[in-house]
Amino acid sequence: MAKNTILLVSLMVAVAFVASATVSMAAPIVIKFSHVVAENTPKGQMANKFKELVDQRLAGKVEVEVFPNSQLFGDNKVLEAMLLGDVQLAAPSLSKFKKYTKSLQIYDLPFLFKNMDAVEKFQQGPVGQKLLMATKSKGLIGLGYLHNGLKQLSASDPLRVPTDAAGKKFRIMSSDVLAAQFEAVGAMPLKKPFSEVFTLLQTKAIDGQENTWSNIYSKKFFEVQPYITESNHGVLDYLVITSTAFWTGLPDDIRTEVKKALDEAITFGNIVAAQKATDDRQKIIDSKRSTIIELTDAERQQWVKAMKPVWKQFEKEIGKDYIDAAIQANN
Ligand code: LMR
Repeated sequence: MAKNTILLVSLMVAVAFVASATVSMAAPIVIKFSHVVAENTPKGQMANKFKELVDQRLAGKVEVEVFPNSQLFGDNKVLEAMLLGDVQLAAPSLSKFKKYTKSLQIYDLPFLFKNMDAVEKFQQGPVGQKLLMATKSKGLIGLGYLHNGLKQLSASDPLRVPTDAAGKKFRIMSSDVLAAQFEAVGAMPLKKPFSEVFTLLQTKAIDGQENTWSNIYSKKFFEVQPYITESNHGVLDYLVITSTAFWTGLPDDIRTEVKKALDEAITFGNIVAAQKATDDRQKIIDSKRSTIIELTDAERQQWVKAMKPVWKQFEKEIGKDYIDAAIQANN
């Protein structure tokens, strides 16, 4: 080989070596996943499963950091933080998107879905899928839904009929529909962050709140709320969300793998949600700290009658065709 050729080959090898070293030394893409609930909840478990799958499949390329229990951001700040690039993934309750879209308010309409199968059917149907993109114009996109479950009413006094709630203060998520729902029974709704609920209940600054069995159990609300009415009056599910800028900025192959891991983690989280709806309810019964009130059909009908007019109030903002599609999902 001529001297020049040897020199050229050596140079090429050196360049290739430096290039590969640069690639392997490139810092991994960091995905901060911020949420407000305990780790032992559907969302907490889903987030941890997502991290586990990404660790297995994209080691060195993508690193997931999970921040539970409002450690990084509360739900009132997380979406702003996402738009600033300070967090990449979150799964706020569908009740917390008021600033970004009115359409998702549909999920807060009381007594709209008869059970979680109907919720799943609606979410996977054309309207539910379209709603994943409801916040797109604001720079945020939904990557999927995650279940938690149906909400119950906890309180310091027994609530059997709507008049029992009149004059009482209830903590709600930041949703005008939920405010209207409590106003419909003469109660006083207060929008407060999830992280404050336990203390508000413990100090009796408020009388009650609405939440799922897993949230009532994992955040110990049942220890400071002697009564829980099994009302199943609404749904608390999540939109797994990211910023368009982050998502479209990912290399195609990485985005595909991350989405796959996310879908699998959501499937896992949904199984956890279904289990916890029964297990955590039972744990609360076993604790004997709180009495569960089961409503008769006639009592439940009174709640339906009092709260259902809220649908009409929000029909224009949400869209009648969307509400009709949700009603259809009950069949
Ligand atoms: C709440 O604020 O009550 C819930 O949205 C918390 C959660 O994320 O489940």
